[in-house]
Amino acid sequence: MPRLVIISNRLPVTIDRRDGELHYHPSAGGLATGLNSLDESYDKVWIGWPGQVSEKDDKDEIRRDLAKEKLVPVFLTDDEIELYYEGFSNKTIWPHFHYFTEYTTYNEDFWRSYQEVNYKFFQVVADEIRDDDMVWVHDYQLMLLPNLIRQKFPQVSIGFFLHIPFPSYEVFRILPYREELLEGMLGADQIGFHTYNYMRHFLSASYRLAGYEQAYHHLTIDDRQVNVDVFPMGIDYDKYAHPQVEADNDKESQEILELALHRKLIVSIDRLDYTKGIPQRIKAFRQFLKRYPEYHGKVNLVMLVVPSRSNVDTYKELKSEIDVLVSETNSEYSRFNWIPIRYYYRSLNFAALTTLYRASDIALITPLRDGMNLVAKEYIAAKEDSKKGVLILSEMAGAVHELNDAITVNPQDANKIVDALVTALEMPLEEQAERLERMQAKLKIYNVKQWAANFIEQQQLLKTSNLAHSTTKLKGEEADAVVEKYRTAKRRLFIIDYDGTMMDFNVDPQAVSPDEEVLSILNGLAADPKNMVVVNSGRDRTTLQKWLGDLPIGMSAEHGVWMKEEGEWQLNPNVTDIWKPNVREVLENLVTRTPGSFIEEKDYSLAWHYRGIDKEFGEKRVREFRDVLAFLIQNQDLQVLEGNKVVEIKNSGVNKGKATNYWVNRDDFDFVFGIGDDSTDEDIFKAITNCLKDKPDTLGVSVKVGNGHTEAKYMVPGVKQVRKFFNKLLS
Ligand code: UDP
Ligand code: G6P
Repeated sequence: MPRLVIISNRLPVTIDRRDGELHYHPSAGGLATGLNSLDESYDKVWIGWPGQVSEKDDKDEIRRDLAKEKLVPVFLTDDEIELYYEGFSNKTIWPHFHYFTEYTTYNEDFWRSYQEVNYKFFQVVADEIRDDDMVWVHDYQLMLLPNLIRQKFPQVSIGFFLHIPFPSYEVFRILPYREELLEGMLGADQIGFHTYNYMRHFLSASYRLAGYEQAYHHLTIDDRQVNVDVFPMGIDYDKYAHPQVEADNDKESQEILELALHRKLIVSIDRLDYTKGIPQRIKAFRQFLKRYPEYHGKVNLVMLVVPSRSNVDTYKELKSEIDVLVSETNSEYSRFNWIPIRYYYRSLNFAALTTLYRASDIALITPLRDGMNLVAKEYIAAKEDSKKGVLILSEMAGAVHELNDAITVNPQDANKIVDALVTALEMPLEEQAERLERMQAKLKIYNVKQWAANFIEQQQLLKTSNLAHSTTKLKGEEADAVVEKYRTAKRRLFIIDYDGTMMDFNVDPQAVSPDEEVLSILNGLAADPKNMVVVNSGRDRTTLQKWLGDLPIGMSAEHGVWMKEEGEWQLNPNVTDIWKPNVREVLENLVTRTPGSFIEEKDYSLAWHYRGIDKEFGEKRVREFRDVLAFLIQNQDLQVLEGNKVVEIKNSGVNKGKATNYWVNRDDFDFVFGIGDDSTDEDIFKAITNCLKDKPDTLGVSVKVGNGHTEAKYMVPGVKQVRKFFNKLLS
């Protein structure tokens, strides 16, 4: 198992100086508490910020102290704390990614500092890193770091996990630095999110902003594969289910137990953060007190608010707002022997925290947005023995996808929260136990160790598969060997697809007529008397003739319906077009409902193209009309071909593979080269393999352009690399 290098902005311990002494205490927040539970499972080193230290503090002493725990500090200056940490991280990305765009601050100094500090982390990483380490970068403060590491250490396996939501594209695109942040993350080999929706938003942003298309959650970037996936973070289940603490000796734990003797406790625990919906929660509780006076004196809302980012104005303002709301509620409803809200602005030690979980009857967790929310999971685990307790959870927390036996609420809907409180207070014990058990069963299995193991295992697999794949890439020595064979061959055939192979339609959907470079490549190849060059395309013959008709090359149009040889076009005798009017009507209807898509009419086939629109939208439409088409074409000797953003209906028995056979048999070739990008080109690759089975002296070179499963021997990432290879052949 390689060593794991974890990098996060905050280390799991934070330093503070009291009475002239350095103290190290556990950091708050899901990232630190969760990841710190990995303890002995990995040989690991953790790089991060240990919190603010003063000029007077002896940094070497801190380094030595932390080294004992395999922690490596990155010290931040006061300016960096203000501009990078409080600034770009917590006044720009944090609010923006949590959909609080009204709080997003746009400030060039913040951005500059964010770049500089990411680089500062990189320098510490660069000193630490060894060749076979696995690197795992965490969270929004370090989004540029994966790519910085990639540039300097291309061989190192890099993972990135985002612990907060990734917003919808419409929100993400508002950020001025969106491309840089995206490219920074994409330096990783694997990118993980807590939920499917965050992942979906990220893939959509990658496609729309950078043009990277996904194939089964994989993106191809240059010659790398990036795996994007969902890994919902778990907790250290046993730690909360069976806390190894002596609650008897802990004064606060005793006080909590005492409190629980007399009333039902509704617990609420969060860092002080506007994303957590604390004011909305207090207001809902106040409404509950108004609507249900019969519960007065019988319940307490125990609100633990853990101090966080207290130098940031929005947090300061929130603190004042909460103070006022609690005090207004308490002053309105308190009795001499009862205060409705018990409010604590501080953190608790582990013994008291778990006692609070265990002693409370209800957990009221209603963030407005939350990447995951581990408190909800810890609460469920803490009920392992008692099987008593109800979780009320916001629909906006990542954890809700796993904890679907919680009572779920819209955190903005005070009335529904009140209803949920009453349902929870009145829920029969049997139902509480059943719901808890179902949730506990999930949390036990998918605990934090499993979470990390899954992430790391997949990252390792990816590394192995990337290495395996690299042997089939048409580059470096592999490419040189093919060029060498080409040079010595006496008679060569090139079967070349056009769209997506010679021309990149993702860059500009309209710009598909051949440019100078394509014409010069095709001309260059055809000029050599040893070469026969064929463009084997799905396009109609009129277009091909218009674009490429002057070149001394052969062509197959409409996947082989038409063949052009020695200047003459000939029709494949097996085709008819009597079916076209019916199918055209269906496709026209599809175009009306799918703006941006269009029909291409060829002599003997019809194609519906959706290259100008969102891939997912197009695929949805394809699914819708597949059945209608299947009905229309039955018994008609037609076939439906699904290509790259195109669906084509044409006569069966005609395909690019049959066309390839035709060309291969035209002469005695000792070098056959076929290249293409979509599923219709797979027929070319198969045909080359089959035709050459009995010709051991002929070299068959099949090349797939882009990502995805293929029968081809080699792959190249994109059009740019295709052209580069041809230019190399011609040089
Ligand atoms: N927590 C803590 N001390 C406290 C209260 C809570 O360390 O006094 C921990 C809690 O156990 C949980 C984490 O802080 O693991 C909060 O994580 P969560 O995912 O709920 O929210 P985040 O703070 O990451 O937004
Ligand atoms: C969230 C973030 C973490 C962060 C934690 C505490 O959990 O995802 O990256 O460490 O809050 O915030 P802080 O600013 O104190 O590190």
